[in-house]
Amino acid sequence: MDDGDDGKKRVLAVDDDPSMRLLIGLYLAKMGYETVEAADGDAALAILEADDALDLVLLDMNMPGRTGLETLAAITHDRSRPHPPVIVVSGDSDKEHVLAAIRLGARDYVVKPFVPAPFLHRVSRWVNSRTEREWDRLDPHVSRVLKVTMEALDTAWRNGEQGAPVDYAPFAEIGDTLADVASSTDTAATLLEAIRRHDGYTFVHSVRTGTYLALFARAMGFDRARTATVAAGGTLHDIGKSRTPLEILNKPGPFDPDEWLVMKEHVTHTIDILRGSADIPADVLEIAWSHHEKLDGTGYPRGLKGDELSPLTRMASIVDAYVALTDRRVYKPAMPPEKALAILADDTNHFDPALVTVFREGVFRKRGDGG
Ligand SMILES: [Fe+2]
Ligand SMILES: [Fe+2]
Repeated sequence: MDDGDDGKKRVLAVDDDPSMRLLIGLYLAKMGYETVEAADGDAALAILEADDALDLVLLDMNMPGRTGLETLAAITHDRSRPHPPVIVVSGDSDKEHVLAAIRLGARDYVVKPFVPAPFLHRVSRWVNSRTEREWDRLDPHVSRVLKVTMEALDTAWRNGEQGAPVDYAPFAEIGDTLADVASSTDTAATLLEAIRRHDGYTFVHSVRTGTYLALFARAMGFDRARTATVAAGGTLHDIGKSRTPLEILNKPGPFDPDEWLVMKEHVTHTIDILRGSADIPADVLEIAWSHHEKLDGTGYPRGLKGDELSPLTRMASIVDAYVALTDRRVYKPAMPPEKALAILADDTNHFDPALVTVFREGVFRKRGDGG
């Protein structure tokens, strides 16, 4: 139900220049997005009329026939039905035209020729709008916690990048709400389903880890307060990845030995950030510090072994591994939940089999859907 995915983002690229459409399509494919092409404004409007499942429009300004501004006006004028966000991509940097486009409802304006990385950053910022808008129709607990988490993680990520402390207060609130959400398997399923089509990788990985840790904590009989803290810890556990270079973070692997060292450093970065922050509970630090430890001592960063792994450490390593296997990435589809659980259950050198059973029976059986 939450995993196993169809959800490729679809972007309409409107440009009269076929080589520009091709170039945009190549960049978007790298992000895992599908490109639908239109050579002029009329074709774009026809596609939008027939297809209400597009996630974003990239719109050229100077085209033969209907201009970009006229096309934009036609897309945005009908307020009775939602339309995908529009980013103008144009060789025209005239201030008046930029302002006119923004006034007509364009979300952003990119001047050609563009630098790929910032362009893709702006695309990824808007491509999830439709998915996020759908959250408004959900249980208010769920839509609120998703929005609060998105903002809190965004801020914490930017702080982390700059070596600034993280404000724990919003994460305490998020943990609290996730503990509520986890008390109803239906609500938890709604939340996990709601982020299935979102492709903000860090956001999705963090929310899923927090949610599954809350579900696991309940299955273990933790009290509500500790369940909330553990959920907050799951949400923050990888915040040090804000200091990991993107080309390593998004690399499909395999890593060479140097890259692997850099990747593993995300744990020490997280601890640096959290130790420099106020009011971080001990359980949150433990989850961050220990979620890559393995029973046989082959984990990192400390190589803890056997009894050195506390029950909470064992839980965090099970959840992080489960979530990583079932996350959808640009370079891999989500693994089906049953398959991921079977891998964890078989891997008794790494994961505590008794706890894997509690996770499997307590979190998945009750939901009766395997996901
Ligand atoms: Fe991690
Ligand atoms: Fe993780």
